[in-house]
Amino acid sequence: MNMNLQSNDLTGVVAADRAHVWHHLTQHKPFESIDPRVMVEGRGMRLWDAVGREYLDAVSGGVWTVNVGYGRESIANAVRDQLVKLNYFAGSAGSVPGALFAQRLIEKMPGMSRVYYSNSGSEANEKVFKMVRQISARHHGGRKSKILFRERDYHGTTISCLSAGGQPERNALYGPFTPGFVAVPHCLEYRAQWDVENYGERAADAIEEVILREGPDTIGAICLEPVTAGGGVITPPEGYWQRVQEICRKHSILIHIDEVVCGVGRTGTWFGYQNYGVQPDFVTMAKGVASGYAAISCTVTTEAVFEMFKDDAADPLSYFRDISTFGGCTSGPAAALENLRIIEDEGLLDNTVAMGDRLMANLRDLADKHPVIGNVRGKGLFCGAELVADRTTKEPVAEKLAQAVVADCMAQGVIIGVTNRSITGYNNTLCLSPALIATPDDIDRITDAIDGALGRVFA
Ligand SMILES: Cc1ncc(COP(=O)(O)O)c(C=O)c1O
Repeated sequence: MNMNLQSNDLTGVVAADRAHVWHHLTQHKPFESIDPRVMVEGRGMRLWDAVGREYLDAVSGGVWTVNVGYGRESIANAVRDQLVKLNYFAGSAGSVPGALFAQRLIEKMPGMSRVYYSNSGSEANEKVFKMVRQISARHHGGRKSKILFRERDYHGTTISCLSAGGQPERNALYGPFTPGFVAVPHCLEYRAQWDVENYGERAADAIEEVILREGPDTIGAICLEPVTAGGGVITPPEGYWQRVQEICRKHSILIHIDEVVCGVGRTGTWFGYQNYGVQPDFVTMAKGVASGYAAISCTVTTEAVFEMFKDDAADPLSYFRDISTFGGCTSGPAAALENLRIIEDEGLLDNTVAMGDRLMANLRDLADKHPVIGNVRGKGLFCGAELVADRTTKEPVAEKLAQAVVADCMAQGVIIGVTNRSITGYNNTLCLSPALIATPDDIDRITDAIDGALGRVFA
């Protein structure tokens, strides 16, 4: 039990929350009879709630965000120092941390050159969609305005991001959607759609089939997660990204990689795409950029893309006429600069690779013991275990059972995740994304908790 919390009576806080706060992604009916969970304090990989219960967090703040762990005073100090100097000016001007972070970020992204600041992953993706549409209007006479997205991927919560969303259960009831977004098949080999040897190339060829059906002249960009996150932690099959890149170059389709989850270390490289030898035209990032210490997202482009927005200064519509008010907050890049320093100085990319290997090995051991684990996937500290009722048919376990595993781990004081309201019938993948500071003991405690939970839920 955390000593600070014992001296604080938070019952009033919990009552205020219960009375007035509308929680994200939550059905509130149960809170008519039980209290909502209110998180109060965090240190490293650990968290405490309002009744003083301690948790080991295996999901970095619930949604793969707090990459450098909780309670980082150096980030808080960097933000404080910046706020008292200058908290804000609109992003039409530069700022000291904005310039310095952009420089540090671009050093990590060979081939990329410009950083556009906003506040959330959704917003960063919307910027790309607007850029693609503006390029279409100004440079292709209105052709090449369509944007491809992939089944099972998620790109954010706004209506246009949902229009690019490949998770039907998440989209349900929110239409009509923005026109001009076209789906391509997912690349999850465990649920193979083609019986071939070179699955990665075949899955990429399926994208070309869509391009040819729609007409290459109509398509401006493709938006893909490097590793699909909330759609089931889908690592791309061998050869997939290389072939996707070839196809896109062949048809002059810009590549937009959504690194909102993978970006800034999660997969053991600075960016997920850097594992797969692909050179993007747009990269978007958010969650791990400042590990949740401040709101920041970035839309990063190449100089070639940037040039298309300043080629004709005499045309009043030629530049990117977009603003994000809070994209001018200096707290974001100030936190991001310190976050980057921590990852470098503490060797957290190497730790991510080593601890990711340990987590995958532990999960494979669990799969040997528990037939309910049908498939284990992952890259770095970003892993998933898909639960099935039958290994031969691969029939998914009932969603309630997957959720029972999460609840059992929670009762043991370990927070894990599960795919949630994403693909009907397939919300059956346990999700793990501990902070990049995880130790061998943390990893073992996480998988021990899952071991116990699987034993009880599937006894
Ligand atoms: C891959 C991906 N892209 C975009 C988003 C949207 O980010 P935000 O919630 O910050 O708008 C998310 C959020 O989970 C995500 O997982």
